[in-house]
Amino acid sequence: MNLKDLYINYFVSKGHKQIPSAPVVPENDPSVLFNTAGMQPLIPYLKGEVKHPYGTRLVDYQKCIRTNDLDSIGDATHHTFFEMLGNWSLGDYFKDESIDYSYEFLTSVLKIDPNRLAVTVFRGNEYVPRDQVSADAWKRHGIKEERIAYMGEDDNWWPNMELLGPCGSDTEIFYFRSDEEVPLVFNPEDDRWVEIWNNVFMEYNHNEDGTFTPLPSKNVDTGMGLERVVAILEGKNDNYESSVWIDVIKTIEEISNKSYKGNEESMRIIADHTRTAVFISADPAGIKPSNTDQGYILRRLIRRVIRHAKKLGIDTSSDFFTRIANVIMDQYEEYYSEIKENRSVVLEVLNNETVKFNRTLEKGLREFQKIVSNMSGNVISKDLAFKLYDTYGFPIELTVELAREAGLLVDTLGFKEKFKAHQSLSRQNSAHKFKGGLQSDGVIETRYHTATHLLNAALKDVINKDVHQKGSNITSERMRFDFSCDHKLSEEEKSKVEELVNKWISEDIPVTKTIMSKEDAIKSGAECMFIDRYPSVVSVYSIGDVSHELCGGPHVSSTGELGKFKIIKEEASSAGVRRIKAVLSNE
Ligand code: SER
Repeated sequence: MNLKDLYINYFVSKGHKQIPSAPVVPENDPSVLFNTAGMQPLIPYLKGEVKHPYGTRLVDYQKCIRTNDLDSIGDATHHTFFEMLGNWSLGDYFKDESIDYSYEFLTSVLKIDPNRLAVTVFRGNEYVPRDQVSADAWKRHGIKEERIAYMGEDDNWWPNMELLGPCGSDTEIFYFRSDEEVPLVFNPEDDRWVEIWNNVFMEYNHNEDGTFTPLPSKNVDTGMGLERVVAILEGKNDNYESSVWIDVIKTIEEISNKSYKGNEESMRIIADHTRTAVFISADPAGIKPSNTDQGYILRRLIRRVIRHAKKLGIDTSSDFFTRIANVIMDQYEEYYSEIKENRSVVLEVLNNETVKFNRTLEKGLREFQKIVSNMSGNVISKDLAFKLYDTYGFPIELTVELAREAGLLVDTLGFKEKFKAHQSLSRQNSAHKFKGGLQSDGVIETRYHTATHLLNAALKDVINKDVHQKGSNITSERMRFDFSCDHKLSEEEKSKVEELVNKWISEDIPVTKTIMSKEDAIKSGAECMFIDRYPSVVSVYSIGDVSHELCGGPHVSSTGELGKFKIIKEEASSAGVRRIKAVLSNE
């Protein structure tokens, strides 16, 4: 049985309910690009804002993506995508039981030799005393005092002392990953000891005024990095030699006709980045390669894979990406339904971006060589870096990587300034295309977004309650709204709908947002188009009593901001689905 199943089964046998992994792109948290930890989707529950519909004991495997450390990818242990195994107590058990479970799981289920284990425990600071309860719990299980290190807030506080929100001290479990003899005394600085599991005891909220106040309940949040533990259990010092990666690496060896030994860095980068690109492009958020946010990360990952594939001598116009991605998708589709459902989407994203980059990569690399041979100093100028970006599609990070390989530096600060100036110029240009160019398209689109909620409500009122949204599309010029309905709207129905929307606009009704669990949202009767696409915690936008919809926003703060609503067209969209085009004007 594999580690994911062993973990879930163990905690289910201890009264935990398995919760599904949230999407990698958080739907209700614009502050982060990706889910970086198992607890992230659970923050509202850890804060005690809402009760979790599954109860107080939860377990899962969560997809996580961390891209802050892209440069470390290529070594034996770092990954941009990883799976985090986690168990939670929401005001249920606390330190003692949590440590009992961890110890039993590691030593009885995984059969890890207790002599290879050591722990760190919080030594206390001005806010919180030393965590003697955890230290005693470890000792009860036979962990010797010399295998317990008492550390400060930099090591044993999660997430850290600066971030606001739920937090607390933690105890971290380490494994001695080396063939050498296990030292009697644990030294956390010795990197043969690797952290395998973090048990966070979340009992405080870090408030905006700097204070730490107790949370409504004491929670446990644990996180175990799957790839690392699998490697340990299989006796591998290189994660990419474990069963998680072996088939992927073998496929890269076959395609490139080269062996992993001696080509580790490029093969690890290809394997790691392809897996992350697969999960980003399979995510329900529908991310495509672009020059901003998640789309930019996706583009960078794909382009870096292509460049390293070329380095290995792989023909990048072949089906190499499809072959590697397929091995990855075969491995994960059993666990993640979006992979099963979106296999063709993923391949299309990877292949389209490859075609695009292949067009310029070769020329760009030649240009880079020219730059290198004509250089006098050792810094690639902002103008040349910008040319590589603008003309050849080289993400700046790729230029930096190529430069590093050639022993050169890049004026990245200068590049960023030039990049910003270029961006604001192209924004100005496109702003001129809009009538008047006075408002940013974001403001107009936000109005249309709120108008779709009013239109949805008006249609239910005028036609019948079974009318549901089937899709929508918004530009700064108009909105398009598809809905289920078995007949063409009469003139009377159309004008009634228009009148109703305009009445609600004239009433200047406030638009409010509430965060709640998806189950509660559904129970409350909130409208929702694709229930499966939402994470377990959702935001519901309400417009007075008129409308309640699950939605990621953004919306105006009150309906008076919308202007006058007018239907310009009503037509068939597909069988049983009608389409309305409508505009908002300032008359
Ligand atoms: N939140 C902690 C971590 O990410 C434990 O899950 O390490």
